[in-house]
Amino acid sequence: MTLPGQSSQPDSRREVLDFGSARPDQAQDAPREGPNARTGGAEEVLRVEDLTVSFPTDDGLVRAVRGVSYAIHEREVLGIVGESGSGKSVSSMAVMGLLPRSARISGRILYRGDDILAMSARRQRGLRGLRIGMVFQDPMTALNPVHTVGDQLAEAVLSHQLVSRRGALVQAQEMLDLVGIPQARARLRSYPHEFSGGMRQRVMIAMAVINRPDVIIADEPTTALDVTVQAQILEKLLEVKDAVGAAIVLITHDLGVIAGIAHRVLVMYAGRPVEIGDTDAIFYQPRMPYTAGLLGSIPALESASGERLRPITGSPPSLIDLPPGCPFSPRCPLADDRCRSTEPELTQTDAASHVAACHHWPRLAAESDPTTFFRIESEGRSR
Ligand SMILES: Nc1ncnc2c1ncn2[C@@H]1O[C@H](COP(=O)(O)OP(=O)(O)O)[C@@H](O)[C@H]1O
Ligand code: SF4
Ligand SMILES: [Mg+2]
Repeated sequence: MTLPGQSSQPDSRREVLDFGSARPDQAQDAPREGPNARTGGAEEVLRVEDLTVSFPTDDGLVRAVRGVSYAIHEREVLGIVGESGSGKSVSSMAVMGLLPRSARISGRILYRGDDILAMSARRQRGLRGLRIGMVFQDPMTALNPVHTVGDQLAEAVLSHQLVSRRGALVQAQEMLDLVGIPQARARLRSYPHEFSGGMRQRVMIAMAVINRPDVIIADEPTTALDVTVQAQILEKLLEVKDAVGAAIVLITHDLGVIAGIAHRVLVMYAGRPVEIGDTDAIFYQPRMPYTAGLLGSIPALESASGERLRPITGSPPSLIDLPPGCPFSPRCPLADDRCRSTEPELTQTDAASHVAACHHWPRLAAESDPTTFFRIESEGRSR
């Protein structure tokens, strides 16, 4: 049987790469900026190709990342979503060149066409913090407690730009202003612990963008904050991104965080991308049961029929001894023998630029509400 979209796409790996190169100007509905703001000519800034990362441990080889591919263009927002342990941080640390020496890495990470993994450590350092900035979940681990915020921001400038210390401090003050820290000039003399959690995360953002990078990687930037502050920080992050003209890779375990923010979404499970699509497609036409299940964990979201959805039960598999077949099969209401024996490749689904790794994605496509499988399973009914 030929499934919609499959016949024209024999090479699933090429498909995901092609998908990754869908340009922001080609998207029909950019959630945040509107279609007209995604003007033509946006160049690709970052491309990750078949990235794999594993860690030898006493218990065996941890296969943390197993073939991640994506591309991001200027000013684009890519959301990377998945449960804790799915390989989101490890894949972004690889981009930043921040993995421990024990890590075994393969694949390519191209910044404007230049392979970061093949660069000298010196060139990698030159890129980090200058062309690619990173916002971490916990600013206290990224900021130095014994130096003032002004000194740290100025240091970030001085390590990449030929300016005087005074000039660097002026830039530091401008950045604190930009991220919404009141009395920025006076706060240059404060230490990180003198800021509230939300304000500290603003400082972290200032630090990530002070050299006006092309790409900001924000790894769970609001997870430690309460909901109101979370929204303010996300809003600020987007404002700052627009001000410096950067693209963002926004990593989160919470699909709700990226709704209305990301242009595209990559869903990760057990170290692999299992679905990639435009944000609307991911939210309204998921083609991988895991994504459909994740939608159930957004508290405010109800199914099309008005019923609350239930979160996925069970936990992800160990990355040391991955069983054969689809890693989601022990938790999937649609799993059958084929799922338990053969791991599905990423394949184009019924929409352009929408790929999913599921043998049974057409069954989700056949439902007006693809999350229905989770609702029915949790009610104990079978299909
Ligand atoms: N240095 C390391 N050594 C061994 N395993 C690691 C190391 N760093 C991360 N891992 C493992 O890699 C997997 C993916 O981790 P991570 O990328 O941090 O997940 P996420 O960010 O999606 O929560 C996890 O199982 C984690 O335990
Ligand atoms: S391949 Fe099978 S087990 Fe995996 S998500 Fe699809 S239906 Fe579920
Ligand atoms: Mg993480």
